[in-house]
Amino acid sequence: MVTGGGSGLGAATVRVLASAGAHVLIVDRNQAAAEVQAAPFENVAVAVADVTHPQQMSEAVEIARSKFGTLDILVNCAGISDPGRVLGKEGPIALERFARVVEVNLLGTFNAIRLAAAVMAANSPSSSGERGVIVNTASIAAFDGQIGQVSYAASKGGIVGMTLPLARDFARHGIRVVTIAPGIFDTPMLAELGEEVRASLAAQVPFPPRLGRPEEYAHLVKAIIENEMLNGEVIRLDGALRMSPR
Ligand SMILES: NC(=O)c1ccc[n+]([C@@H]2O[C@H](COP(=O)([O-])OP(=O)(O)OC[C@H]3O[C@@H](n4cnc5c(N)ncnc54)[C@H](O)[C@@H]3O)[C@@H](O)[C@H]2O)c1
Repeated sequence: MVTGGGSGLGAATVRVLASAGAHVLIVDRNQAAAEVQAAPFENVAVAVADVTHPQQMSEAVEIARSKFGTLDILVNCAGISDPGRVLGKEGPIALERFARVVEVNLLGTFNAIRLAAAVMAANSPSSSGERGVIVNTASIAAFDGQIGQVSYAASKGGIVGMTLPLARDFARHGIRVVTIAPGIFDTPMLAELGEEVRASLAAQVPFPPRLGRPEEYAHLVKAIIENEMLNGEVIRLDGALRMSPR
């Protein structure tokens, strides 16, 4: 199951996992985008759901179970950003804006995890006892968030913070939890920033001095799934980028 699989990093993950033979359920609130990604593959299905919604996500997990028999892998890619200074010209930022970013990025990730893990815990274990793998998407903004990124950094910091305790919590079920903290990747989310900002961000990456390709993110997801010793860790995927304040 790949949340946010209708676009960007999630869509690349869908392509890589489906090409490797996995049955994939795209869970996205954007039905049209999800269907475009699913169309080339016989082994990819779509569930329309908002990750923050308990009932919709419960139904999405049920679709995965009924279509594919079980759920082995969850990749959390659904996320939003809503940049803004805390103190703007019109006074303090609306609390709802902060709350929505945290709701989608942090609560949405946790919502998918708790529901998917309940299915994974009932899986037959592999010969080594593994029952499932969960990959989350934070951001390097969790560590070096820029001006205007307070809500985004808080939401991603929450994902970083829950990675180890989740891995510890799920260890007795044989479920691993790993978080990727991407630097700057060439996706529709980043396209919102405009060409000039994108070029300036790309130039700040020590090596390779370019935006990351979504396939490079998806490649790491696959490596995490395949490597059983990776657990409870946050992996920066950023070409050594450490973001400046602005
Ligand atoms: N692109 C980057 O440079 C970058 C860097 C660091 C972290 N990230 C993180 O990677 C993840 C994917 O980002 P992207 O660049 O591919 O973004 P994107 O906007 O291209 O794709 C995000 C997808 O998530 C879906 N989505 C958003 N809110 C949702 C909700 N409430 N319920 C269900 N689906 C929802 C959207 O419909 C979209 O298909 C995000 O969590 C983002 O914060 C991206």
